Amino acid sequence: MLHSKNPIVDEALGALAFTPDIEAETSEIYARLKGKVSAIEWQIQAPLIAAINRLKREKNAVVLAHNYMTPDIFHGVGDYVGDSLGLAREAAKSDAKIIVQGGVHFMAETSKILAPEKTVLIPDLRAGCSLASSLTGEQLRLIKQRYPGLPVVSYVNTTADVKAETDICCTSANAVQVVEWAAKEWGVDRVILVPDEFLARNVARQTHIGIIAYRGACEVHERFNAQDIADVRAAHPNAVVLGHPECPPDVIAACDFTGSTTAMADYVTQNKPKQVVLITECSMADNVTADAGDGVEFLRPCNLCPHMKRITLEGIYASLLTMTHEVTVDAAIIDKARLSVQRMIDMPPTATPARYDMIKARHHVDVELIS
Ligand code: 13P
Ligand code: SF4
Repeated sequence: MLHSKNPIVDEALGALAFTPDIEAETSEIYARLKGKVSAIEWQIQAPLIAAINRLKREKNAVVLAHNYMTPDIFHGVGDYVGDSLGLAREAAKSDAKIIVQGGVHFMAETSKILAPEKTVLIPDLRAGCSLASSLTGEQLRLIKQRYPGLPVVSYVNTTADVKAETDICCTSANAVQVVEWAAKEWGVDRVILVPDEFLARNVARQTHIGIIAYRGACEVHERFNAQDIADVRAAHPNAVVLGHPECPPDVIAACDFTGSTTAMADYVTQNKPKQVVLITECSMADNVTADAGDGVEFLRPCNLCPHMKRITLEGIYASLLTMTHEVTVDAAIIDKARLSVQRMIDMPPTATPARYDMIKARHHVDVELIS
């Protein structure tokens, strides 16, 4: 039997059973999870999925599930699934009273900033992010003093305090577009882009705007190296290699396509390569399988994000049942941070998915690293 630390949750978990009704109710979801979940696992997951979906209806709640959630969450209970930008857009326009963030803490804070009147829950408060914890609002204030007059573009993987010191946020889906918008709007030829050094370097390859970058890194993507790509190409010469722009620039230079998590998923479902490698978090491949069809084989390597993996079906169930853990952001911080997030949301969608096409990159790379 599943256990939590809360007797109310334990009692509710104990009452869940894999009945014929539950089996029928969840059969379509099971079909999407083909090959990812065993029949035995499904007997535990199906009742939880049914119970979560029931609670969502009763409480007028939605689950915003990031592409890195495990497939049981992504396909079973996610009302909206996607990349950071897509989830932020959904938080801003959702009619639900409660948002359960299937993702990490900065994503829940972003939802709260965009929808302060809603209750935003995160199933596990320990779901952090190495990028978000690499820079504080106080550090960013000091950086701004060193570069007066330059706009601050912050990756959305930042705390609310950092967003409050930011002129406009960006995600991997729109970073080049946002950097160019900020330079034009401020009438300058350099911008501050924090905290991800690799994203900043990858963006710098795509624009003439000078970039002032910080030394933050994603602990998942920084572990990939160019040898990983060389090895996979030697073993599978026809495989298409897709990488997330949080990877080091030499990794991105060796990839065939680079984009946000949703841009990578779209690439696979639209192009259906026979063999594909997703240089990113491992759950991506599991989640894309259902839409990619049987003709696409997903190859390794991939890395797990320990923070994303803190979010589980049991955690989501407990979160909705007990209304924990509520994510709060100081009203004054929300007021200051909202402009930077809203500016990003209001950017027109790019005509084609954001690409960081290193093969075609010709620009002089001008990155100053903040010491
Ligand atoms: P996306 O915005 O591409 O979904 O990426 C978020 C993230 O945390 C990647 O590590
Ligand atoms: Fe943060 Fe990296 Fe995990 Fe994304 S994958 S949440 S950037 S630690």
